[in-house]
This record gives sequence, structure tokens and C-alpha cells, in this order.
Amino acid sequence: MIQIKDLNYRYPDGTLALDGVDLSIEKGEFVALIGKNGCGKTTLVRHLNALLAPTSGFVSVFGMDTTDTSNVWNIRQTVGMVFQNPQTQFVGTTLEEDVAFGPENLALPQNEIRERVDRSLREVDLLEYRTHAPKALSGGQMQRAAIAGVLAMEPQCIVLDEVTSMLDPGSRRKVLDTIAQLHHSGKTIIYVTQRIEEILPLADKIVSMNNGKIEFIGTPQEYLASVKSPIPAITDLMRKLKAKGFDVKDDVFTVDDALLEITQAIQARDKSKTETSGNG
Ligand SMILES: Nc1ncnc2c1ncn2[C@@H]1O[C@H](COP(=O)(O)OP(=O)(O)OP(=O)(O)O)[C@@H](O)[C@H]1O
Ligand SMILES: [Mg+2]
Repeated sequence: MIQIKDLNYRYPDGTLALDGVDLSIEKGEFVALIGKNGCGKTTLVRHLNALLAPTSGFVSVFGMDTTDTSNVWNIRQTVGMVFQNPQTQFVGTTLEEDVAFGPENLALPQNEIRERVDRSLREVDLLEYRTHAPKALSGGQMQRAAIAGVLAMEPQCIVLDEVTSMLDPGSRRKVLDTIAQLHHSGKTIIYVTQRIEEILPLADKIVSMNNGKIEFIGTPQEYLASVKSPIPAITDLMRKLKAKGFDVKDDVFTVDDALLEITQAIQARDKSKTETSGNG
């Protein structure tokens, strides 16, 4: 659904932020875009709904060329964006007013708007906060409210740019669960993050950028098999255990899988000990 070919982008001050980017994203895919500060992640995703136009190269969304101004309206309805600071995106005085803003601009009938607002707030588990002021919500609730605002436009694809970076672990979990649900319901997800550990269990595809270029594209397993860093702390621990002679897999990235591996390794070791002492 998204095709990017030899994309270059230079900011007006001369900074070359994207340098020959090629990437295709399929409908329904969950793509994690990772990489260090300033490597070009935000610049890249801003091309996906025509907030930026290529200096050279080509971006198309569902066959629509992003540089054709007559496509911009359709592209923005197809690709919704959520950014790091949701405060800057709120326009309504209550949550429901805020979420209604997008559908109202589509000039939909009132009952359709009502339905979309309710459905979107329910999907992010904020229906009970409908009459609250967006600015009075907690950080995690604000991010979910911003996601509801995007959902009300019923986009096929949702881009989230470092939306959990300011959140505590509990709120982060809740936002990630919401995004995982949206993926299961068929949405295409493009998730920008610097936290590799939060994304490996969710993503279909990891895209790693460095200095304006893509340096790796592959599955989470392929990422761990070929990339030395960054890796999740739990994977690092498993690699260290393996190096110390424990018979554990070193490509696991969830605590549950790690626990299972370690438990099995300990049981196997205890068993071989009893067997050895039994024989002696
Ligand atoms: N408005 C701008 N004008 C000039 N240069 C910019 C502008 N915005 C970003 N840049 C530069 O373009 C490069 C890519 O920046 P970008 O914000 O896309 O990176 P990023 O990977 O999203 O970084 P971060 O992890 O910090 O969000 C950096 O060198 C950055 O300094
Ligand atoms: Mg960024």
C-alpha cells in the first residue's frame, strides 16, 4: 500500500535528512521504524501523509502520488499520524468534541459522527472520559485520546512517532496494547521508536535507519540474528548466559520466553547432576 523509491529529502538549510530510501509497506503490516536521534525517522514518516514532499524520488500511498496536490486530502484520510506531544494536537474543549473535529470536517451526518466518536473512544478505552478536558488527562490517556482522534477518520494506516517516549511503563503498556489491538483489527501500523524491546514482540517487520539511510529491513528474528545493537536487555542477558555455558536460546526477546528458557536450562542441569551423582 505504501511504496517509497529512492527518496531523498533535503531541508531548506541544506541538511540531507533522507538519502536514497527504498521501502514498501503492505496492507495490514506492523512496521517498526527504529534508529538513533536525528537519523531521519520523523522526516521519513512525514512523507507518508504528504506533510513533506520528496526533494527527489517517489512516495505513493495506495497508488496515490504524494506530490500530486489533488491527492493530499485522500492521502490524509488514508494515513493518520500521532506524534510525541499530543497536547499540541488537541482542538476541542472536551474529549468528545476533540475526537468529533475530524469527522465534522468530513461533513458527515450528525449520527455518523456520534457513532465514530463513541467507537473511537471505546477502542482506546476512554469512553468514560468523554466529557473531560483533553488537557486534564494523564500522559498515557492523552496519547490514547490522540489515537482516538485519528481513528475517528477511519484511516487504513496509522503512523505513531515516538508516542510512548514520555510515558511511564504502565501507560506505555496500555498504549502498546491499544496499538496491538488496532493491528489485529486489520490496520496497517507504522511505529517509530527508539525502544527496541517494546516493539520486537509486536512488529512484523523491523526497519532500522542510520544517517538518512535504511541499514536493515527484516523480521524481529532476523534483526536479532544479524544486528549487534541495540538489542533488548533480556536478549543481552540470554547471550551472556549462553556465553557462560547455559544451554539457552539467545534470540528471545520477551521476559516470559526468557523465563521458560532459563527454567528449562536449570532443570536440565539439575537432572544431569542427579544422574551423574546416581552413577557415582
Ligand atoms: N526543520 C528542520 N530543518 C533542518 N534540519 C532538520 C529539520 N528537522 C530535522 N532536521 C534534521 O534532519 C535530520 C533528521 O531528523 P529527524 O527529525 O527526521 O530524525 P529522527 O530520527 O526523527 O530523530 P529523533 O529520534 O530525534 O526524533 C537531523 O539531522 C535533523 O537535525
Ligand atoms: Mg523524530
